Amino acid sequence: MKEKLQQIKSAALLELQSPECDTEALRVRYLGKKGELTAVLRGMGALSPEERPIVGQMANEVRAEIEAALTAKVAELKEKALADQLCREKLDVTMPAAPIRMGHQHPLTRAQREMEEIFIGMGFEIAEGPEVEYDYYNFQALNIPENHPARDTQDTFYITDNILLRSQTSPVQVRVMEQKKPPIRVISPGRVYRSDALDATHSPLFHQMEGLVVDKGITMSDLKGTLETFARKMFGEETKIRFRPHHFPFTEPSAEVDVSCFVCGGKGCRVCKGEGWIEILGAGMVHPFVLSNCGIDPEVYSGFAFGMGLERVTMTRYGIDDIRLFYENDERFLKQF
Ligand code: DAH
Repeated sequence: MKEKLQQIKSAALLELQSPECDTEALRVRYLGKKGELTAVLRGMGALSPEERPIVGQMANEVRAEIEAALTAKVAELKEKALADQLCREKLDVTMPAAPIRMGHQHPLTRAQREMEEIFIGMGFEIAEGPEVEYDYYNFQALNIPENHPARDTQDTFYITDNILLRSQTSPVQVRVMEQKKPPIRVISPGRVYRSDALDATHSPLFHQMEGLVVDKGITMSDLKGTLETFARKMFGEETKIRFRPHHFPFTEPSAEVDVSCFVCGGKGCRVCKGEGWIEILGAGMVHPFVLSNCGIDPEVYSGFAFGMGLERVTMTRYGIDDIRLFYENDERFLKQF
């Protein structure tokens, strides 16, 4: 029996030396209830009363030795696992960070913000109106009754007979004048719609920026001064503006406004198609009918209005030759701005 105990001890200690030793399995196999040491102790009944305490003590010593060796081995394995992990997960805090891909504003948004800043600098506020609009605001209140020929050039998408996708930002003029009494000084940028086929210069969805000033004593020279200031800030200090007579139902008199070509300075080039001038907006003095439609007395107040295409201004400004580029989200285009 003593030899058996010695055997168990040396076998266990030897196994513990192996680097792949499974300590838990070993514990069960040697020290567990059904383990080898227990089996020996169970056989002690066959010993003489003198031998029993000696073997008993020896068995306890063997158990204690194996336990101590096991505990030491477990601690060693743990330490090694931690060391390995630390080694594996080494972190170099001096490494440069992974680059973050930052987006930026769409060229149209950028141009819009730039234009807003210019008008805010002149004391304008920004007004907003709905894109789904009543026929009344989009046409009738702007002096464009049913069957007026101006409706042909602004054919749009109808939700019902009298609700449509606005074809211009001009209805915001009416909404603002209904809400606010003069002095009024607002711009209103936003989306507009027309049932035009998509090509290099047309899109069924595009953007406009409306402007409206109403107060006592507003004249055409206020309009000219405002637009001239805008054009210089937007296209460069040398820029000149030119008014050509035109007709809009909601302004009288009305004009189309050109800026001198900022590329050639007016001599004529590819950008201005040899004209020396580039058309950027429509404008005029607010028609007395429109003022009175909105409850403003045209005998007391007068005003001017203008409306420009954001795409057009942006294309002119950056030399973009196809309107479709704005909506395709092609990074090769967007990254250039
Ligand atoms: N709404 C007009 C259009 O889409 C542009 C315009 C012309 C706006 C004259 C105005 C204006 O405010 O006074 O063609």
